[in-house]
Amino acid sequence: MVGTDAHGVNGAPAMTDRPRIGDVARHAGVSVGTVSNAFNRPDLVADATLRRIEAAVDSLNYVRNESARQLRSGQSRTIGLIVPDVANPFFTDVARGVEDVTSAAGVLVIVCNSDSGVEKEQRYLRMLAEHQVLGILHVPAGQNGAPVRGRDRRVPLVLLDHTGPARGACSVAVDDVSGGRLAVAHLLEAGHRRIGFVGCVADSPSQVTDRLAGAREAMGGAGRRETDLQLVPTTSLTFEGGVEAGRTLVDMPARRRPTAVACVNDLLAIGIMQQVLRSGLRVPEDVAIVGYDDIAFATAAAVPLTSVRQPRNLLGRHAAELLLDETSNPRHRHTNVVFEPELIVRESSR
Ligand code: RIB
Repeated sequence: MVGTDAHGVNGAPAMTDRPRIGDVARHAGVSVGTVSNAFNRPDLVADATLRRIEAAVDSLNYVRNESARQLRSGQSRTIGLIVPDVANPFFTDVARGVEDVTSAAGVLVIVCNSDSGVEKEQRYLRMLAEHQVLGILHVPAGQNGAPVRGRDRRVPLVLLDHTGPARGACSVAVDDVSGGRLAVAHLLEAGHRRIGFVGCVADSPSQVTDRLAGAREAMGGAGRRETDLQLVPTTSLTFEGGVEAGRTLVDMPARRRPTAVACVNDLLAIGIMQQVLRSGLRVPEDVAIVGYDDIAFATAAAVPLTSVRQPRNLLGRHAAELLLDETSNPRHRHTNVVFEPELIVRESSR
């Protein structure tokens, strides 16, 4: 092949140099079928034989050919990604990080939109297992129970954007309690006393309840009662949900209206900003606004939006790397990764 030397591209061993399953079998003095069973059905192989095969694997530095194994086993080179709302740029950015990793590994991604519905996400978990996917990246729609219910434990699964109990799975998330605390501490430091919190919906996902917990911690830390945080109702974590909450805000008497709001995501914040500006009120002078995610639209908003930044691409990349490791590394160990959020201050709260 042009451009490859005896060691293949970039010094990696060429495919022809890599030990094959037949080399392991000869080295261990067993048949190829026994080696295959050692990987796929170790319960069928005697312990002493398993130890000889493991020694041969180590000695030859053999790495399983995952593609060939999957072709034989009928298992696809595909993973599933279940997210609550594909229309939210946060999840698009996360999916891009996933794809950066999976495309390099020759793995396809099936994106499933659960519409923040536990029933729909359980259906996708089942369908993906039936399609023999390599594994699943799952952003749970509901509280902690959902990630466990309905999953086929034979299919590797990494919880994404979820710090809840991840028994028997890897997880990658951001410390949303810290994020909620950052947002409200910023508004308290700016002198606001009547602060609203926007984003509590029916069966709020853990990302939202964690942000509220952090917001309340900030209130307590400033000597304020946690109950002083005014919960502004909305029915969805979308731009339309923000418009709805914005209407509620502008209809309030000025003496009761919060002078600042912390929103659980940027879509809500941008919807609120539109309603506040349309009513003739000013941002931040009459209502300061803080979002969450720091999606690209945050800077493009009518008044550039202050937001709690999540490392969206990194979340996706890391989750995909953990999942691919679990599907191919016999020594994989589950890990739970938590990234720190960052407050990006712009005109909407200055
Ligand atoms: O799904 C609601 C929010 O949770 C998203 O905007 C993102 O912040 C996620 O963590």
